[in-house]
This record gives sequence, C-alpha cells and structure tokens, in this order.
Amino acid sequence: MKSEKYKILVVDDERDICRALEFLLSRQGYSIDTAYDGNMALDKLRKSDYDLMITDLKMEGISGIELMEKALEFDSGLTVVIMTAYASVESAVEAMRKGASDYIVKPFVNEDVLLTIKRLIEHRRVVFENQALKRQLSQHMGCKEFIGESSSMQEIFELLEKVIPTKSNILILGESGTGKGMIAEIVHCNSPRKDHPFMSINCAAIPETLLESELFGYRKGAFTGANSDKAGLISMADGGTLFLDEIGDMSASVQSKILRVLESGELIPLGDTRVRSVDVRIIAATNRNIEQLIRKGLFREDLYYRLSVFEITLPALRERVEDIRVLSHHFVEQFCSEHNKSLSGFTNEAMDLLMGYSWPGNVRELKNVLERAVILCSGEQIDVNDLPDKLKKARTHASRSLKDMLCGFERKIIADALASNKGSKEKAASELGVDLATLYRKMKKLEIDI
Ligand SMILES: Nc1ncnc2c1ncn2[C@@H]1O[C@H](COP(=O)(O)OP(=O)(O)OP(=O)(O)O)[C@@H](O)[C@H]1O
Ligand SMILES: [Mg+2]
Repeated sequence: MKSEKYKILVVDDERDICRALEFLLSRQGYSIDTAYDGNMALDKLRKSDYDLMITDLKMEGISGIELMEKALEFDSGLTVVIMTAYASVESAVEAMRKGASDYIVKPFVNEDVLLTIKRLIEHRRVVFENQALKRQLSQHMGCKEFIGESSSMQEIFELLEKVIPTKSNILILGESGTGKGMIAEIVHCNSPRKDHPFMSINCAAIPETLLESELFGYRKGAFTGANSDKAGLISMADGGTLFLDEIGDMSASVQSKILRVLESGELIPLGDTRVRSVDVRIIAATNRNIEQLIRKGLFREDLYYRLSVFEITLPALRERVEDIRVLSHHFVEQFCSEHNKSLSGFTNEAMDLLMGYSWPGNVRELKNVLERAVILCSGEQIDVNDLPDKLKKARTHASRSLKDMLCGFERKIIADALASNKGSKEKAASELGVDLATLYRKMKKLEIDI
C-alpha cells in the first residue's frame, strides 16, 4: 500500500479557486500543488508524479480537456477531475467520455468536493492494491520444477501427491535452503485451489504488531495510523493457500489467534466486531526445531497439531548426496540460458568437489555457487577453478568430510528413530539396539537437541 501522502495538482486560472481548494484539501492530509494555466500544469506533471489532477474546463490557452488529454498521454493512470460552471455541465460530461473520472460544478460545496476526491482516491488505492496483489500472484504462479532423485525425496514426492489434492494443512521442516518455500508454492499451484490466491508471509521478518495487522487486517481507526480499512492476508487468501514462513518465530498472541482461525474458520479484523468466515489451507514452515520450541513453551502444542496434519521434513543436501549431481546439472542449464552461455557440464574433478562438500546452506548455496561458476567459466565445462575456495579447502580435509558424512548419516538415523517414537528416548534407544546412555552420548556429540 502507498505510504506517502496522495498528491493532487489543482489547475485554475482563477488563483482564488486554487487557494481555496489547496486550503480545503491539504487539511485532509493530501499534498497539494497548484498551476494557473495549462502549460504550467504540464510542466509540473512532467516533473513530478501526481495521483489526481483537478482542472478547470475553460482556461486561457490550453483548455482543461486538452490539458487532460496531454496529461493522460504520459500518465495514463492519472485520475482527472474537471471543474466547470453549471452552464457547461455538458462539456464536463464530454470530458468524462474522454477520460476524466468525475466533475465538480462551480461554485462548489466543500463537502461535495471532499466526498468526490475521497471516493476517487479510495478507488485508486484499491486499484493499486489489486495490482500489487496480481504482481505478487504472478510471481508465485510460475510453478517451478522441483528436482530430486534420492530415495528420501522420492518418498516426499509420493506423500505430496496424496496430500496436494486435499485441504489438509502441511508443516514443512528442514534447514535453511532445503526448498521449503518452493514446496509450498508447488503444493498450491498443483492443488484444486490454484486459481485462488497464494499469499505468503515471513513471520520472522515482521514485528509482532505489524504481523497481526498484516494477517488479520484492520478497520479504519483501529489504531493510530489506521486511516482506512485494510484486508488481511488471511482474508485475501480466501479459497486459496496461506504460506506462513518461519512459523517458529511467531509470538504467543499471534499463535493463539491463528489457532482460532484454524479451529473455527473465522476471524475478526483488528478494531472490528464482525466475524468473517474464511476458507484457507495453511502451509507452515520453519527451520527451527519445533519440538524443542514446544518443550520450552515457546510454541503452542495445540497449534502444532493443527498445522502438522501432514509434516514433511526436507533432508539437508549433505544427507542426499545423489541429488547434488542432478541439481547441479539442472542449475547449470538454467543459468546458461539466463546468461546466454553454452556449457557441457562439469569436469570430473569439479563434480567430485561439489559432491564432497557439506553444503551448510543447502540447495540455495549450491545454486549460488553454480550461478557464479557459469558466469566465471571460460571453457566448455565447469572446472575446479570456477568453484569457490571453500570447496577446495573442504577437499584438503577429505577425511573430515567423510567423517561429516558419517555423522550426518548417524544423526539422521537417530533423529528418525526419535521422531517415529514421538521423542521417547527409551523407545528410540531400544529400536536402535543401544542403551539409553549411549543414545544420550551420541545425541550430545551429534548436537541433537536433548
Ligand atoms: N529440489 C529443488 N529443485 C530445484 N530448486 C530448488 C530445490 N530445492 C531448493 N531449490 C532452490 O533453492 C533455493 C532455496 O529454496 P527455498 O527458498 O525454497 O528454501 P527454504 O527451505 O525455504 O529456505 P529458508 O529456510 O532459508 O527460507 C530456491 O531458489 C529454490 O528455488
Ligand atoms: Mg523459505
């Protein structure tokens, strides 16, 4: 939404009229500029961006209609209001046919002018918001290809195939850069909800009070600065999908309000008394350890159960080394076409480096490394020299890297055993065939949260 003041240009060769309108409208918080003839107005329109222009119809030199036509030529989105004496209302109607949004009859009644301008500005605001919404949607709608051949990813695809057509909420867990955001988009644009909005919000990036108003919307006057009604993202996602990213960072108050929406399918915007029904599928994601947050009392258990009807944990890239190869080829192809290059893959040494690295930033890091490599590469294949030093340094510690891989493997087995036994360490230890003390020692060594 537009945050600065709306700018209005008032054009009339009677300076008193300009002054009267300036006085009237600036008291309403609009920013007013004045011009006393068509040329002066055009000059100002060229130099600055206005939301609305009020112009007299009959002026010396360039007439109001001519001015409007010229102004619309270089800013087709400008809202134009024509002022006219009662005797020439017909020409005002003619002006509306040519693109004016409304007209004001002189001598005017202040209240009428204010109402007209307010209505037109409000209309502009709605159009502006809709455009922003459409832009946001089109950004999301280009459904991307999710790459993964490892057995762990295949299992996830199988589960997704069953879940996507339903309305069930999904919780996506996984380290940063593993593709959580991408899965959320893919779920939406393959689901029956695909023709409705996909709204996404990063709960960690927005201060608590703002998050609440962004999600639930507000009524005019709900708090200082709430100058008009605003729809929240949950209402905007009606019929579609709401993606709550970084849900582990949501405050207790927002958590309880989200829970209410999930339980009742209803919400109340801030400052409103009316309840609204909404139909949204919620996909939530976090890279934090949600069970630990629950144990520490930072995340509501009841909300967790509501959100995690289906829980998907995306494995770290180092735990699915076989995906590194396919992903690498996929990204090189993508960046070659973006940067107009033609490369035939990797040298063996370069591929070994990629496969041996531990990728703490996961797929995002791999993607960035390969964009850089495609740009740098001057031969036919990406070579070791096109890859960053950190990968080469990791190779000089090859034994450590093997150890890392083994640790990763061990960590995954233990984490899986804990998850399938709902966190019970006794049961996990017995399933793994080790005693409880060994399990604790390993968890500590592998930095698994106890
Ligand atoms: N399997 C995949 N196939 C193709 N591209 C992928 C895959 N996984 C991730 N990516 C790409 O890697 C980047 C990071 O993915 P994404 O933003 O979805 O990660 P994330 O898990 O949401 O990360 P964060 O926790 O930091 O928000 C994106 O550009 C995404 O397109
Ligand atoms: Mg993300």
